[in-house]
Amino acid sequence: MTRLEKETNVEDFDDFGTRLRASASRLNAALSVRYPGLDPVKLPLLSRTKRLLLREPVSPHLSEGLLRLIIFGSPFASSERLPGQARLPLQPAAEVVSPYLLMRFNNIINKATARRLLNCYVEMEALGLKTSHAEAHWSTTSALHAGVWSLYQKMPYVTRDTRSQPSAVTEVLARMLGIIAKEVAPKLVKLLKEHCPEQWARLQRAYDRVKTIMWEVYGEKPWLDFEGAFFTVAVKQGSSKILHLDWNDDKCGGITWVIPVGRWEGGEFCSPQLKACIPVAQGQALGVQARRLVHCGAPAKGTRVVFMLFADHTLLKQAEQ
Ligand SMILES: [Fe+2]
Repeated sequence: MTRLEKETNVEDFDDFGTRLRASASRLNAALSVRYPGLDPVKLPLLSRTKRLLLREPVSPHLSEGLLRLIIFGSPFASSERLPGQARLPLQPAAEVVSPYLLMRFNNIINKATARRLLNCYVEMEALGLKTSHAEAHWSTTSALHAGVWSLYQKMPYVTRDTRSQPSAVTEVLARMLGIIAKEVAPKLVKLLKEHCPEQWARLQRAYDRVKTIMWEVYGEKPWLDFEGAFFTVAVKQGSSKILHLDWNDDKCGGITWVIPVGRWEGGEFCSPQLKACIPVAQGQALGVQARRLVHCGAPAKGTRVVFMLFADHTLLKQAEQ
């Protein structure tokens, strides 16, 4: 694979991460075998400006599964041996409904919107913004997790970071999420409908359920309503420098939208499975399958506040039951 531009197939996509249980040590063990000595930030840089649609050519699960079925009589290996390691338990692969592993679009937010979003975040920090969701090992900075999710619960609920802020912060948070709800979500809805219709249908089923359960919350706080394009907004400064998977994201084609604002250099999205680093500038939106693509951010110099918009896997799964 030399140039990944416009609509391009990602050949030889190695989907090992999907089948790992959520564990940083297992992921690191698998990475050290697959990509020994790799410095992900040195991977080739893709175009800064072109629209990118990186497609998964055929279901790797299916081809791998069929092969194993023929050879071993079982569609998937239940474990994989790594040199010098205990057997690594693997989960069955999931059925993936989004055709694209990664998408990048231009002109999603204009300069004025970017400035307002950045100002809101800076203002919240000055007012004593609190973050409660423990950040994993891959990042030195913690993120705010605002909106709705279903993590560890049977029902969707408003995240603690949304509920437990000082009142001055809550006011700005409502303003910030309102900007996202009115100016960003409708554009992402359009993109999802056009490029990932099956994932959009899943999101709509989850949205219908959330609306039914949380009609009162949505009535009182319309700034939490993102039309089902996503339900949670994570925000942080800088980038996550260590290779990881976003374990709370959906492995069946869930798209996490990454929208950075500010003035900075670096901060590219790097993924060994794509063999590439993808620049994301202010104004652009990057949509990635963050539970399937092992990734990290290149170091960023300057001010970079990044918004990550997603639906957690529990919320989506509950809507299918
Ligand atoms: Fe991530």
